[in-house]
Amino acid sequence: MTVASTIPVLSDFSVRLIAWQRQHGRHDLPWQNTRDPYRIWLSEIMLQQTQVSTVIPYYARFLARFPDVASLAAAPADDVMALWAGLGYYSRARNLHRCAQVVVEQHDGAFPESVEALAELPGIGRSTAAAVASFAFGARATILDGNVKRVLARVFGVEGFPGDKRVENAMWVLAESLLPSNAANDEVSAYTQGLMDLGATLCVRGKPDCMRCPFATDCVANVTGRQRELPAARPKKAVPTRRTWMLVLRDGDAVMLEKRPPSGIWGGLWSLPEAADEAALSARARALGAHEAVSPLAPFTHTFTHFRLDIEPRVVELNRVAGAKVALADGETAWVSLRDIDAYGVPAPVRKLLDGLQGSLL
Ligand code: ADE
Repeated sequence: MTVASTIPVLSDFSVRLIAWQRQHGRHDLPWQNTRDPYRIWLSEIMLQQTQVSTVIPYYARFLARFPDVASLAAAPADDVMALWAGLGYYSRARNLHRCAQVVVEQHDGAFPESVEALAELPGIGRSTAAAVASFAFGARATILDGNVKRVLARVFGVEGFPGDKRVENAMWVLAESLLPSNAANDEVSAYTQGLMDLGATLCVRGKPDCMRCPFATDCVANVTGRQRELPAARPKKAVPTRRTWMLVLRDGDAVMLEKRPPSGIWGGLWSLPEAADEAALSARARALGAHEAVSPLAPFTHTFTHFRLDIEPRVVELNRVAGAKVALADGETAWVSLRDIDAYGVPAPVRKLLDGLQGSLL
């Protein structure tokens, strides 16, 4: 069963969207009211990861310096990058420049009109190709960017994370099926702009303005109160778990700390000596002339970004009969009074463990 086959039909979706866009949508953005594919393409590339309000001044400066695709293609790369500086995602600017050169060299300076040919150009994916084709040439092609995915997930109750290929494919099928049939040129533009405007002005991520939405009475998310659950968030990756045994080697109020290697977790911090299992820890403790391990301390877990660390602390008394304090053979070690721990950079969970120990000791 595909995701799309479970989705209820809204037969007049495009009619209602176009009517809403004409009355309530945006009509005066600097890249509207033109059919010039260069101007439309430039705006779509700038708007790929950047908000309208940020793009507007960049767009104006860019057009003043490069009024057409030929002037952009002929410009030194440094000039293009300088005008882009501050917009971020600089591969967009490099692709933009290359795209202008391809249009000049391979398409006689005229942007191709089909979605397929546009999508072949550097920096133009399927959704951007559809935006340019529909705005500039009236092509009956659907966009599907992040905003549109949110609108579709909510209105049609599409479950699953939209970044998931299976869900995304189903959304493309759904978006295609919703296009206005036999639309006149300006209808497709209004439809495409309507999708963008709805996602940007009403069906926003945080607090959607459902009261003013033309689909309020049909929208699955609104009707079932699931606006916060749709679209589904990116699934959290299962984090792997590692386990380590920590040696709390005690001599009166002092414990032995070991400096960790400069790289890796807790790089360069002072921590407790570790072993990969109970037996290795006991062996290490015995070699130091210690009693058998006793563990009044509970195991605990520390969560890193990429894994969880289960920590098994084992407290071991140094056997004073057997000898004096012995330094571990490997690494830099220090005997530190629990009162002086502040002077050492100790990882937070180890510090907590030692604080607990101090409480039991003093
Ligand atoms: N985001 C992407 N394309 C847009 C456009 N043409 N108008 C407003 N926001 C957009």
